[in-house]
Parts: sequence; structure tokens; C-alpha cells
Amino acid sequence: MCGIVGFIGSQQAAPILLDGLKKLEYRGYDSAGIAILNDSKIDIRKVTGRIANLCELTDDGKNCNGTVGIGHTRWATHGAPTDTNAHPHLSNDGKFAVVHNGIIENYIALREELIQKGYDFQSETDTEVIVHLIEMYYKGDLKKAVIKTSARLHGSYALGVVCTDEPEKIYVAREASPLILGVGVGENYFASDVTALVSYTRNAIYMEDGEFAEITPDSITVFDPAGKPIEKNISRITWDIQSAEKGGYEHFMLKEIMEQPRAVKATIAPRIKGDDIVLDDTDLTAEYLKSINKIVITACGSAYYAGCAGKYAIEKLCRIPVQVELASELRYSDPLIDEHTLLIVLSQSGETADTIAAMKECKNRGAKTLAIVNVVGSTIANIADNTLYTWAGPEIAVATTKGYTTQVAVLYLFALYTAKKIGSIEDKEYSDALKTVKSLPKKIQEAIDMNTGIANFAKKYHGVDSVFFIGRNTDYAVSLEAALKLKEISYIHAESYAAGELKHGTIALIEEHRPVVALCCNRALMEKTMSNIVEVKARGADILAVTFKDNQKIVPLADDMVFVPETDTIFTAAVEIIPLQLLSYYVAKENGCDIDKPKNLAKSVTVE
Ligand code: G6P
Repeated sequence: MCGIVGFIGSQQAAPILLDGLKKLEYRGYDSAGIAILNDSKIDIRKVTGRIANLCELTDDGKNCNGTVGIGHTRWATHGAPTDTNAHPHLSNDGKFAVVHNGIIENYIALREELIQKGYDFQSETDTEVIVHLIEMYYKGDLKKAVIKTSARLHGSYALGVVCTDEPEKIYVAREASPLILGVGVGENYFASDVTALVSYTRNAIYMEDGEFAEITPDSITVFDPAGKPIEKNISRITWDIQSAEKGGYEHFMLKEIMEQPRAVKATIAPRIKGDDIVLDDTDLTAEYLKSINKIVITACGSAYYAGCAGKYAIEKLCRIPVQVELASELRYSDPLIDEHTLLIVLSQSGETADTIAAMKECKNRGAKTLAIVNVVGSTIANIADNTLYTWAGPEIAVATTKGYTTQVAVLYLFALYTAKKIGSIEDKEYSDALKTVKSLPKKIQEAIDMNTGIANFAKKYHGVDSVFFIGRNTDYAVSLEAALKLKEISYIHAESYAAGELKHGTIALIEEHRPVVALCCNRALMEKTMSNIVEVKARGADILAVTFKDNQKIVPLADDMVFVPETDTIFTAAVEIIPLQLLSYYVAKENGCDIDKPKNLAKSVTVE
């Protein structure tokens, strides 16, 4: 959560910071601020609400003079989203300003200590202790003050610090929150995410936990926690600028839905060579895969639901038991995991705090870890024994779409790869399945094309207060993600239920005209799901069925139909979800919601 950005050079800093903050706004958007060093003074501007408000306050940065600055967009944790709680925070002597992404877990004790020493607190944030500690430890050397301060902090942080006594420098530090340095010519940058850097430079240094850095216009020096300079590689940012822009679409979410055929193709095509799936970025040998006795998949949010969908393919093809666990639960569950467990970690951002913690817990217990991650150089990618990137490009809308489908696609590849390696699949079944996986980009495109009229259903659904999604097996897995999509962007209560389970209590909530979205893409269980549709229909529900074009059986039962191309059941999730993403999008639009930045949410959840 929260995005931080910084610039030092000879151009005016404020417009660059504002531009960077707009790119980071998906990380949090309840308040924002910048601090600009000018004439040995720090000029702070901060305001509640979106970056647009900060642009208005600063006349797009034109009324803040100075070539060194730091900025922040906030997702409130400690203290309400107010102007005072917004970052940057200033020291009592006015010499230091700090932006922070993360959580300082011991801030209460530090706050009490600092108050006793006479420091005056303006905000309710955990961050403010950092700026007062820096003031306390500053004896003419900002580097030493940052080292001493960092040593006092427990929790997570990516920090940017400026100081009026050392105006030609910015200090940054990282512990368990993303931080990337942008290397320019006569100017340098830092940011939480490469999207804020890519318009200015393609050369990046990925900071690691415990490291901090001194940034001047002409140099970047990275240090280890003891203050010893260390060599860092400069990586090339390959994301193109357009992929982080709306490209003519009204919302990033719609653009990202439409990008899915390309994103899935970019993710799977390089890994299919002839009849072979090549995961040469991993060390998952046949010998190792034969040695495991279970696979645990862990993740949060939609990534967890991608795991739920992938489980069916892995179990069916590999006959290895798969457990899908919420990362926030797994980490505290004293899990039964050892060196015979393969842990698969799914994360679009690669920075989700609970997922990182669950992964560390399982690694400590001996599991090998395979990360499926979208953001190159992210924490999860760095910690994992093996990483398979989803090549979806930057995902900006808070509600994931292409992140989910590409994760599912990688799980399908993994399932087939493993099945072949361990010999649990016949040649014919393997080549048929591979053909299906290869066809997914085309089928996803067909699913988009078949549902151009879905905006009309949205008109019918947008006014309702609750929607049920039902399905069995793979359909159930997809219904979990479909319900989450609807509630997170349209604010309509939505609940996913295993179709056969509804009658054990929840059917009491079915009443006249209650919308029920029935997912019926699993041919083997079609009749069973149809019986469940009949049950809810008998109680007055309005049915929207999601099924194959030629599936006429459902027609008499459904009030409305949505079609997708038929896909082998275990690989259907990546296709079946498409109309449901579109439905959520259009319902949210009808409801006048802020689709790309839904209330109370943030895309990158770096707090527990
Ligand atoms: C947030 C996002 C979700 C995402 C979840 C996990 O809640 O809004 O879309 O599924 O975090 O994020 P990750 O980056 O780990 O996939």
C-alpha cells in the first residue's frame, strides 16, 4: 500500500513527482503530498483525496519551486485520511521530511520515547516517529542518522528522506516494502514501482531488504545495513510506456480485460517449444517432482482464487494432492509442510505481505517454493527458489483481470509439465491437453467477442442489493473469482456458493427476483448443476446462466444466457471468467463507481 517517489536533478521536481504519483495511485489514493527542497527550506504540500487534488493545490507543480523532492500517495493504516496524516512528515526543526510505505510495528513505544524527549507529534501515523528519530540522531551526517534510525524500526518500510543541511542528497531505505531506484543522466529517481519511472528512465536498481542508498543528481550509492557500499546491477525495464496508459479505454480495467488474449499468449507461448513445455527458468526436475507428496498453493484475493482453479488441473493430471490455502491463514496455522511439499505462491504484485510471510514460514519448514508472479524483481520473486513470471505487463486497475487469467494459465502449464515429467499422463492426453492450453488466447478472444452485448445485462443487475454465484467443481472455482469481482468494484453484495451446498442453509436467502448467476461450463456435472438451478428458480430466483453456445438444455431454466466457447473442463477457468469480468465492469459502471480505484481498496496490500 502507499506509493513513494523521489527526484533529484536539475529539472523542476514537483511535476515529475506528481506524474510519478499518478502512476502509483493504484497503490493507495486517500491522500497525497510532496516535499520540495527549496532555498534550504522544505516546502510541503499535502491534501486529502486523489492526486488530482494535489495537482490542483500545486497548480500541477508549477507553484512549488525546487529540483529535489519526495512524494507519497497514501492508503491509510494509522490515522484517518486527513491532510495532517498525509505524508510527507516534517521534523520539529523543519530540517527533515520523510515519505514512508509500510508499517512501523513498534511505533507506539518509539512515539512514547520521543514524546518524553520533547518531540512534538502532529499526526496519528506510525511514520512520524521516523522523521523525529532522524532529527534525534542527526549530528551532521544524514547517512549515520538513517542507519541509526533504521536499526530502531521494526516492521516494513520503504523510505525517502530529504534534509535541508544536505540538499544535494536524498536517502532511501528498504525493509520488506518495494523500492526501485531509477538511474538517469544528471538526475536520479526512486519509486515503489517501475511504472513511475519508465517515462524517465529504463535503467533500474532493485533494492533489497536491509539496504539503503544515497542518491545525488550524478550518483547512486547503495549500502548494506552496516553502511558498507555494495555493488548493484542495473536492470533494464522492459515494460513499455503505453502499457501503463489507458490507450483510449475509459478505464484501465476494461483495457486490461481486453488485453487478456495477448497477456495469456505472452505468458504461455515462450514456454511451449514444439510438443514440450519448457520451464527452464526452474529446477523442477523429474526426480524432484517425483519426490513430492503434496502441493500447497498459497495466495490472497484473486490470486488465491486462481489457485483454486489451478488445483483441478494439477490434481487431475498429476494425481498429486493439492491444498489451496489463504496466505493470511496458512502463516499462522503451524502448517504440515516439509521437504516433500512444493509450495506454489501466486501473486500479481509479488509484494503482498501475508503471502510473503506464508512463503517464508513454509520455506523454513523445508518446502521448495515456486512463485508465479507478474512483477519482475519483486520481493516474492526474489525469495522464491523458482519463479515463473506471468508476462501480463503492468496491471493498474485495482481489480485484477489479466493478472488472474495469466496466473491460471501458468498453473495449467505447470500441471501439464509436471504430469509429463512424473509420467502420470498418456501421450495422447498430453498432446490434446497441450493443444487446449495453446488455444486459450484464441478462446479468450472469442469469449470477449461473444459478449459484446453484456452491458445490457448490467442495466438489469446494477440496482440489486445481492447476487449469488453458483457452480460445481471448476465452475465453483470460477464463481469465487466472479463474486469477488462484482463486490469489489460495484459494491453489490455477492456470494459464491458450491451449487450442491446451497440447500444446507443459504437457500433461505433466495427469494423472488434474487439474481443467481449459474456457472455451467463443466459438462460432466451439468445435470447436477441444473437440478440446483431448478431449486433456486422454484424459490423465485432470476437465473443468468453462463454456458457453451450449443448448450440448449439450460435455455428453459434461465432468464438470461451468457455464452463462452467450450473448453476442456480443467482448463475452462481462464475462458469462463471473461464474461463475468465484463459483467462486473458494466454493473459497476451503471452504478457510477470508481472502477479502477474502488473504495477502501489498494492494489498492493503490503500490510497484514
Ligand atoms: C489485492 C488486490 C487483488 C489481489 C490481491 C492479492 O487485494 O486488490 O486484486 O488479488 O491483493 O495481490 P497479489 O499482488 O498478491 O496478487
